Amino acid sequence: MHFSTFNVAIGVALGLMAPPATAQVTPQQMQLLVNNCLQCHAAENTSAPLMGDKQAWQARLQKGRNQILRNTVEGINGMPPMGYCSACTEQDLNALIDLMLAPALEESND
Ligand code: HEC
Repeated sequence: MHFSTFNVAIGVALGLMAPPATAQVTPQQMQLLVNNCLQCHAAENTSAPLMGDKQAWQARLQKGRNQILRNTVEGINGMPPMGYCSACTEQDLNALIDLMLAPALEESND
């Protein structure tokens, strides 16, 4: 399942998009997240946007979902290609990206 970037942007702008209660992540994907991504994405001392940091992910969302996926696969600055997750398929990475982006898609009340 792909969100259209356009619809995401409009949904966020209008605050109309219902937050994905939980992104669809399998237990295996959750394990990949813990083993590979959280060492940076749950660590204050890295420049990685942290899990649950709504503002950080909202800022990232501006560049579009496809670009975010590409940066995750190819790497960008301190983000290593595939986030060091050699066992991750593109489907896994997509699911984990959706999980990371989920807070940014929630209705904003701040
Ligand atoms: C070695 C540390 C590290 C690991 C491991 C890591 N990341 Fe990252 N990640 C970063 C940093 C640092 C950034 C910010 C890069 C930038 O934009 O300067 C980032 C950015 C991202 C972004 C935003 C990309 C964008 O275009 O803005 C996503 C999505 C992401 N990581 C997903 C993941 C996933 C999924 C995993 C595990 C499979 C993972 N990362 C593992 C450090 C890490």
